[in-house]
Amino acid sequence: MADCDAAPALQANEVNDVPVIDLSILSAAYLVAEIRDACENWGVFQVINHGVPLELQAKFELVMKKFFAQPVAEKRKLRKDVDVENPYDYGYEEFVENVDDWKEVFDFPLEKETMMPASTGDGERDMRELIHSWPEYPPNFREACEEYGREMEKLSYRLMELICLSLGVQRQRLNGFFKDHCNMGRIIHCPPCPTPHAALGTHRHTDVGALTVLSQDDVGGLEVLRRDGEWVQVKFIPNAYVVNVGDMLEVWSNKKYQSLVHRAKVNSERERFSVPFFFNPALYVVVEPLEELTDEENHAKYRALHWGKYYGSRKYGNFKNPDMDVLRLNNFMVSE
Ligand SMILES: [Fe+2]
Repeated sequence: MADCDAAPALQANEVNDVPVIDLSILSAAYLVAEIRDACENWGVFQVINHGVPLELQAKFELVMKKFFAQPVAEKRKLRKDVDVENPYDYGYEEFVENVDDWKEVFDFPLEKETMMPASTGDGERDMRELIHSWPEYPPNFREACEEYGREMEKLSYRLMELICLSLGVQRQRLNGFFKDHCNMGRIIHCPPCPTPHAALGTHRHTDVGALTVLSQDDVGGLEVLRRDGEWVQVKFIPNAYVVNVGDMLEVWSNKKYQSLVHRAKVNSERERFSVPFFFNPALYVVVEPLEELTDEENHAKYRALHWGKYYGSRKYGNFKNPDMDVLRLNNFMVSE
């Protein structure tokens, strides 16, 4: 999910002031205030002492490395999108051969059956089932991915509830929209790049869903666009997760929390892994600013949008179908 309209800049500032939030702090009021501050001013923060078992993270990392260490020909057997006939499915994809991003990815959903709008056009109601491609090697790959995804889901719900409190709405105000969620994990592998100054692992973009919870390795490379327009590196903190605001949270919060613009650099000597977990609403959900956050003086800044069509447009418009109209948040902005 990358925008291709931005050329890579060479450097970001070597500062690390992305907020770090300790989730073991018992004061809910303190946590809520920290999260409000981070979401309003940054759109991103790191969490530590989050309760995700370290052994589960280690097991997951071991199998993902085994999978990507295989020859490309082996991994390509899982590609479902080569013929464009099934561009909607999950599995292995690579962008390394294109000029776009220097990376290969494996996407995995948490639900066994996922129904997606068959087209992104207005009024179209046909649905189609997404196909999931799981490799046979390593043998416990699927189990480790699903265990990891469940932990990320638990953490995402906890964070979303704190975010709701930070917006001044009921703790579980948004939970219902995730009942039939389409949450997805993505393992991103960036091989060492011989021309790191001329490529990016992932070009600048915002995440389309509600919230992203990401683990990155000690190679680092994730950069976020600060409100003042400067690119800032997100420093690697062992066992921390990076959490960022996505497009749907921007709409629900009526732009109080803005979707984070971010990108990832490549490394000339070391391979890099990062694993975003996308916390996404159910595909049938219509997203609009929460009524508690709008009134006579604070009008809704967005029109209602159909999440499934928005997601489909962004997911399948980039790279795979250059002729397709890609929906972006500014398509739904209400003019002042
Ligand atoms: Fe992203």
